[in-house]
Amino acid sequence: MPSKPLIRWAGSKRKLLPTLLDRIPSKFNAYIEPFCGSACLFFELAPANAILGDINQELINALTQIKRQKDIYDELVRIPDTPEEYYKIRQLDPARLNVRMRAIRFLYLNRYCFNGVYRTNMEGKFNVPKGTKTGCFPSKEVFDNSRKLLRSAHLIVASYENTLKSASKGDFAYIDPPYAKSGKFTGEYGPNSFDSRSLPKFVNKLNYLDRKQVKFLFSYRACQEVLDLLPSNYKVSFISVKRHIAGFKSGWNNADEILVQNY
Ligand SMILES: C[S@@+](CC[C@H](N)C(=O)[O-])C[C@H]1O[C@@H](n2cnc3c(N)ncnc32)[C@H](O)[C@@H]1O
Repeated sequence: MPSKPLIRWAGSKRKLLPTLLDRIPSKFNAYIEPFCGSACLFFELAPANAILGDINQELINALTQIKRQKDIYDELVRIPDTPEEYYKIRQLDPARLNVRMRAIRFLYLNRYCFNGVYRTNMEGKFNVPKGTKTGCFPSKEVFDNSRKLLRSAHLIVASYENTLKSASKGDFAYIDPPYAKSGKFTGEYGPNSFDSRSLPKFVNKLNYLDRKQVKFLFSYRACQEVLDLLPSNYKVSFISVKRHIAGFKSGWNNADEILVQNY
């Protein structure tokens, strides 16, 4: 049974799901998502065998605790949605919490923060203000279903290069790195995040997957920088989507994205 993502995430591909689903290979062994974020495609596909990786330790710990612990949901929905509670929880140091409390802190802040953004200051402390109109947690049913789906997933805190080392012939990887503006560090996904300087090395990794006969679907901002690096045998589709960038009206714009596949 497919499920909805439990996490709000800047750059989530929720709106792009129908377009992505049209391009999924009909058969594959393992499903691999090395920049998983909210993993909305994973929850929609409900694959029998998956590897989900991300460099965000708090995110992967939260998914891991949801997978392992049944009653996290009840505890989460008991915490009041107030600015006092939000800022009290935000100032807790995750390194001093056990893995369960750390997950609860992350999930609570993720639900009620501004636009589902994960941003930290120079000391690595989450510093996103409380949002408005954040909605509430998905239902317990959705949580339980997602927990079941996560049982088939191996979850790892890793750079995309490491996650992709596990890919073998016949696997399918959905690869969705952050869209970095050339030469600009946005800080959106924290330090050490993928940025446009990573692109040449990244395309080498795609070529490596292709040689290994791993199928991949890669989504990115449509830009010459990446198109110039791609070999001509990959299939490129241009997609226009409405993307919420800035959090106020003038920030809505039509961005052209590309989808690249090697099958
Ligand atoms: C565009 S988001 C993925 C969104 C996801 N597809 C979804 O629908 O929610 C990119 C993700 O890449 C992660 N990330 C950034 N740099 C990374 C790296 N070098 N290796 C692995 N993950 C990275 C970020 O933490 C973020 O979760």
